[in-house]
Amino acid sequence: MSVKEIAVHSFRNHDQARLKFGPGVNVIWGGNGSGKTSILEAIYLLAYGRSFRTRRLLETLQIGREQMNITGIFEQGKEQNQIQLNQLHDGRKRFILNEKPISGARELIGLNPVVVLSPEEQIITKGAPGNRRSYFDQVFSVVSKAYVDTLVSYTRTLKQRNAALVRVATDNAPVSMITAWDDTLAKNGNKIWRERIQYINEFSGLLQKVAHDFTIGDVKLCLQHTPDTALTIDEHKKILGQSLKNDIRRGYTGSGPHRDIYEIGFNGEDLRKFGSQGEHKITMVLIKMAEARFIRKHTGKGPTIILDDLFAKLDFQRSDQVLSALGKDLQTIITATDIIDLEKKGVNPSGSNDTSYHLGLN
Ligand SMILES: Nc1ncnc2c1ncn2[C@@H]1O[C@H](COP(=O)(O)OP(=O)(O)O)[C@@H](O)[C@H]1O
Ligand SMILES: [Mg+2]
Repeated sequence: MSVKEIAVHSFRNHDQARLKFGPGVNVIWGGNGSGKTSILEAIYLLAYGRSFRTRRLLETLQIGREQMNITGIFEQGKEQNQIQLNQLHDGRKRFILNEKPISGARELIGLNPVVVLSPEEQIITKGAPGNRRSYFDQVFSVVSKAYVDTLVSYTRTLKQRNAALVRVATDNAPVSMITAWDDTLAKNGNKIWRERIQYINEFSGLLQKVAHDFTIGDVKLCLQHTPDTALTIDEHKKILGQSLKNDIRRGYTGSGPHRDIYEIGFNGEDLRKFGSQGEHKITMVLIKMAEARFIRKHTGKGPTIILDDLFAKLDFQRSDQVLSALGKDLQTIITATDIIDLEKKGVNPSGSNDTSYHLGLN
């Protein structure tokens, strides 16, 4: 899979920009505020149907403009897809795939997979349990539409049950308003658990393998998933019943896949508690390598790797080693403030499959 071209109109600081990418290493360089991350954001938007920077898409419309457009051309073997996003000032938006309107995220996710490495992604190893749940939910969504659909139903039911909990506590509404959701919640929860257990097992195997293959010395990574409660539908329903009083008091449902824990062990210690900066950095890169392999294994597509400010902010000594470990045969798009610095670190985008762009400040 590769991104051939991206064109933006009235998007962030870009009035208009069109960038063409080669199948190898692509560098976008320029000063702070020149719009490098925004270009990556545009690619990501067409790959996932949402931004990695904001939940409010309207923020990306250039201030003072009526509408913005992003058009991307993606290549899959001999096939090409054109994806467009059109966002109006009044909030209306449309995603268009090969000239036909589509609903958005559900249809886009997995079509042109992209793996992002940016300093912000460090929340995967450093952040709260919810950050890891979101990360793995997204990875699993790329490879399974069934997972997306179950997750959407589960989340909707959970919201309704939580709203009912509050109504029972405040308006004296009947308890049956809450328990009416338990069956659907437990059934969808069970589906999520089954998929998570299978996927995390595979992911963990890939992670151990990349850690073994790409680290000097002997880094042993262990990814552990602890499902929150019981795994059968009936046991989960029983627990929901038993914790009903507590749930009403707290105003939210205290058990289910939305409470699962993912932990990462680094040479036998909990990375989140004991990891050094360097250990977090290397683990993040290895997780992303495992992600790229996981996606390829399930979808048959080699994802595009996008690296935002990684080498500057995270200060890897030899960036070329990180790049070649990530995937020699994968398209890579890198941003940097200084191309000389990048070249010093061993990244030299001068092959026939490579490109480099300089974004100037207007
Ligand atoms: N909606 C918007 N309209 C106009 N300018 C914006 C908008 N959103 C962000 N910007 C500006 O776009 C610039 C580019 O940001 P960014 O892509 O993060 O640059 P870089 O990654 O090169 O540092 C920033 O200076 C920011 O203030
Ligand atoms: Mg940036």
